[in-house]
Amino acid sequence: MGSSRSNILCFLVLCACFLVPKSCHSYSHGALFIFGDSFYDAGNNIYLNTNIPKLNIFPYGETYFKHPTGRASDGRLIPDFIAEFAKLPLIPLYLQPGNHQFTNGMNFASGGAGALAGTNQGLVLDLQTQSSNFKNTEKQIRQKLGASEVKALLSTAVYMFSIGSNDYLIPFITNSTVFQSYSKKEYVKMVIGNITSVIQEIYSMGGRKFGLSKLLPLGCPPISRALNIVSSGGSGCMEEITVLAKLHNRALPKALKELKSQLRGYTYSIFDAYTVADAIFNNPSKYGEDSNLFRRGEKGMLRQWSFERYHYLRPESIRIVR
Ligand SMILES: *[C@@H]1O[C@H](CO)[C@@H](O)[C@H](O)[C@H]1NC(C)=O
Ligand SMILES: *[C@@H]1O[C@H](CO)[C@@H](O)[C@H](O)[C@H]1NC(C)=O
Repeated sequence: MGSSRSNILCFLVLCACFLVPKSCHSYSHGALFIFGDSFYDAGNNIYLNTNIPKLNIFPYGETYFKHPTGRASDGRLIPDFIAEFAKLPLIPLYLQPGNHQFTNGMNFASGGAGALAGTNQGLVLDLQTQSSNFKNTEKQIRQKLGASEVKALLSTAVYMFSIGSNDYLIPFITNSTVFQSYSKKEYVKMVIGNITSVIQEIYSMGGRKFGLSKLLPLGCPPISRALNIVSSGGSGCMEEITVLAKLHNRALPKALKELKSQLRGYTYSIFDAYTVADAIFNNPSKYGEDSNLFRRGEKGMLRQWSFERYHYLRPESIRIVR
């Protein structure tokens, strides 16, 4: 069990090492800019004046922070662990009021967000909006530090993304007709296109090091299992959604690799969350998880799902093993 967990962490650490060329261990200066959805949102959504469920309620946050923080986890999220590894404090939230310390980076992520503006439109900060917010932040840093300093800061920073899951899940949850207008392939192409265009924007502002993640088997978390029951009376994973995740996971590395030929000095790393999550979904107890938690959807807890203690995975259960 311990070794499986350290394998997961090893992935993340490798990812961070790769992106931080100097030396894995002496790395103590640099910034982390975080984009994406509920895997990475450390609380931005609680400042949104929209109807998106706010996660600053118990039992979220109960194990590590001892109070709910707006994270979709009982503890910390992957970027929190990466920040710790890079000897950075917890990264500030873009929407949190007050004076920010910019030089460690910023978290722009918004739970429920997708790469497409139409995903949870009007409820969350989609990826393009997160990119605009990054531009605002860049301006503010430039005013404080000057043009050459900001360039150095942005070019040594790491840009982490967790995006796409909602683009594929939300159409099923909202019973949208989008897949009547687009083939699966066309839809995936649109999602990937919107991700790479944000990477290009950040690159043009000076960003060089990008970290992305493949998607989980999206048909297998509780909400998809619940949908399976509601929509077709089926049971188990909803394969239709996993098929989209698989298409996305094949297209993403190709798209990121293609950018390499266009953008000088650009570098990236992809975390294979699919393989890791698939192993956990298939054998939860091996990873210290209660298998019933992953099967809850089968009990029809669709409405309550967003308030479930265990969102998808509990990153808190991934511990640093030295
Ligand atoms: C979804 O929409 C279709 C029509 O587009 C309808 O027949 C079906 O009952 C709806 N399903 C749910 C679960 O609301
Ligand atoms: C981004 O998504 C929109 C739909 O929200 C689509 O019309 C557009 O073509 C996509 N952009 C790229 C570069 O794929």
